[in-house]
Amino acid sequence: MLASYTDLLRKADKSHYAVGAFNINNLETLQAVVGAAEAERSPAIVSTSEGAISYAGLEILSCMVAHAAGRSSVPIGFHLDHGKDPDLVLHAIKHGAYTSVMFDGSSLPYEENVALTRKIVKAAHPKKIAVEAELGAIAGIEDFVSVAERDAHFTNPAQAVEFVKATRCDALAIAIGTSHGAYKFKTSSQLDFKRLEEINRLVKIPLVLHGASGVPSSIKAVCIRYGCKIDDARGVADTHVRKAVSHGICKVNIDTDLRIAFDAGLRIYLTQHPDVIDLRKILGSAKDLMGKVVRQKMRLLGSAGRS
Ligand code: G3H
Ligand code: 13P
Ligand code: ZN
Repeated sequence: MLASYTDLLRKADKSHYAVGAFNINNLETLQAVVGAAEAERSPAIVSTSEGAISYAGLEILSCMVAHAAGRSSVPIGFHLDHGKDPDLVLHAIKHGAYTSVMFDGSSLPYEENVALTRKIVKAAHPKKIAVEAELGAIAGIEDFVSVAERDAHFTNPAQAVEFVKATRCDALAIAIGTSHGAYKFKTSSQLDFKRLEEINRLVKIPLVLHGASGVPSSIKAVCIRYGCKIDDARGVADTHVRKAVSHGICKVNIDTDLRIAFDAGLRIYLTQHPDVIDLRKILGSAKDLMGKVVRQKMRLLGSAGRS
């Protein structure tokens, strides 16, 4: 069933697990996420970014998700991820299919982020749509050489309290050293757990970890064996994701790991079946591997068996 973002996150917060939010761009990814959620008896959030909307269209995506979530035997949220254009976020709210929207004003000056987030919250709440906001720059820990630099870019705990109070957002995406994409760390996974602990102590709404893909070594190895050039890709260690969840993160965003799984599934199938041109078989193989990765994530986040 289609589920409320606030309910999903509140339950996760109370029982110390996290809900995975998985980016989808097409039918196969949606099927992989919902299928995995049902197989694991796990709640899940399906996210579409501005890029997904310009690729596939808001109408098609929202019809597919509303149908798949509505028929699902486990709770599925539908989320607009990284809405940077306030007009698009307002349009998504008005459209009504999303159960939550993210307004990402993290690159704006603080006061502007507050004002626009507040405006989005005022439009969303009467429609019972939750708002995720972002404070701090989601960037790799190695992007900042000094502690002072990190302090200037990562989420400031005291400012986070002020931001939540001023905007009345429902969840907060924080910057503690993760980054988007497949190249998160040059050496090894590192996160600013002290900062997370402090934010979690002070901020009373659910916290969200973006850029949380792990780039699983087994799937990366398959990708590379079949020709993909991602040798230096490195993600957040599973132990660190688990630790972040135990320190109060209750929504974890994953996109890159699905992209890698899709790529691996496609390459294996095409190499092993050069005679097949049936796109359902080709994409079906990619879908199966994405589904396996989503199931692993649900077990990692502790959401498996919660629905
Ligand atoms: O956080 C960003 C997600 O990975 C979505 O990426 O904007 O390329 O769809 P995208
Ligand atoms: P990854 O690139 O680590 O998968 O992060 C995805 C994300 O944060 C989507 O909002
Ligand atoms: Zn993100």
